[in-house]
Amino acid sequence: MDKLVINGGRPLRGEVEISGAKNSVLPLLASAILAPGSSSFTNVPTLRDVVTMGLLLGNLGARVERQGDGMSVDTSEISGFEAPYSLVRTMRAAVLVLGPLLARMGRARVSLPGGCAIGARPVNLHLKGLEKMGAHIELNEGYIEASAEGLRGAHIQLDIPTVTGTENLMMAAVLADGETIIDNAAREPEVTDLADALTGMGARIQGAGSSRVVVHGVSGLSPVSHRAIPDRIETGTFMVAAAITGGDLLLRGARADHVEAVADKLQESGAEVTVEPDGLRIRANRRPRAVDITTMPYPGFPTDMQAQLMALLCTAEGTSVITENIFENRYMHVAELDRLGADVRVDGAVAQVRGLPHLNGAPVMATDLRASASLVLAGLVARGTTTIRRIYHLDRGYDRIERKLVAVGADIVREKDE
Ligand code: EPU
Repeated sequence: MDKLVINGGRPLRGEVEISGAKNSVLPLLASAILAPGSSSFTNVPTLRDVVTMGLLLGNLGARVERQGDGMSVDTSEISGFEAPYSLVRTMRAAVLVLGPLLARMGRARVSLPGGCAIGARPVNLHLKGLEKMGAHIELNEGYIEASAEGLRGAHIQLDIPTVTGTENLMMAAVLADGETIIDNAAREPEVTDLADALTGMGARIQGAGSSRVVVHGVSGLSPVSHRAIPDRIETGTFMVAAAITGGDLLLRGARADHVEAVADKLQESGAEVTVEPDGLRIRANRRPRAVDITTMPYPGFPTDMQAQLMALLCTAEGTSVITENIFENRYMHVAELDRLGADVRVDGAVAQVRGLPHLNGAPVMATDLRASASLVLAGLVARGTTTIRRIYHLDRGYDRIERKLVAVGADIVREKDE
């Protein structure tokens, strides 16, 4: 296992290349199942979760090849229909093969993703939607066993705008018989990116990016070449890195329209954000001011940026109130930030963050992906040395983060943790 050792206190300056979006690439790779033949994707980040999705597709009989930032998935010979516990347990997004397998193979056996470090995270809405489309679903020995004699279009009203649920249902619907309407659909850019790739395969989809997605089923799809959108959470994380260190970063390739809620909050806290021809620039030259944050589905403030903003607010002037509305247990980073001297009080979904002029380095433990990112950010500004253990969480979702940080002036090294 590796650990990160950070000596804080250096303002970050320079340029960072933003990688492709993890949460786009995972459904994109799963979507290749729908179109027999070789689909290829570019702007694929180097991440543990991408490797896991590749293994899963390989297990199903696909031929997966990686070249630079490209990845091709040949699904001519898919024969399996199972996502085993050993893979789903390391990456919940493995559940994204459920819709495509059901559409292509008429059956799927997918390990039920259990709870995780950020909450219970059920998949009942995925299953309810698939049942409405005519799938027969049973839960057996920890597995979702789904079968269908041919899916049919249906009107699905989601109770919650679930992101991977919307993606799973959209992927099931593209080959179904007739029209599927998904109401209260997730509006995240990753849903739109998936719809764009499916459309490139020949699917008929309207309304992706709005809360009503309409899919007219077609009889077959052909492979696609598709470039994934830039990662808006990586973008947001580096925006905070500039703001928290009083630095100046140009985030190349970032999409300003995907990070508006985060940019608004950072501006409110005193940073300057400007849209440049080749990306987004963020500068800060003063201690941040306190701001209140409430996480919401897109285009609201993303839950995936809550932990990182909390790190910033720990050093702000004044007291901030954070309300986490998406996941019930997404404050695992608080106890670790406290170890760096932060003053955060949590009561249910609400965290009160009293900003302090300084944090102090300490050994801390990463608990999940975005919690790890918040500890890196806090370490960048803390006085002295911060050592972060269990950084395998970070490697699941950030493409070479410490290399990108070193290139803009951070003092951060990866070491073996004996
Ligand atoms: N929910 C249900 N039933 C369902 C599905 C969801 O009750 O059937 C609830 C969840 O428990 C949660 C809320 O609905 O309280 C929203 O969850 P959602 O289903 O939208 O989350 P997800 O699709 O499992 C994706 C991202 C997460 C991100 C969330 C919210 C991917 C692969 N994952 O998860 O990303 O936090 O949307 O935006 O797209 C991350 O990248 O660190 C990450 C956790």
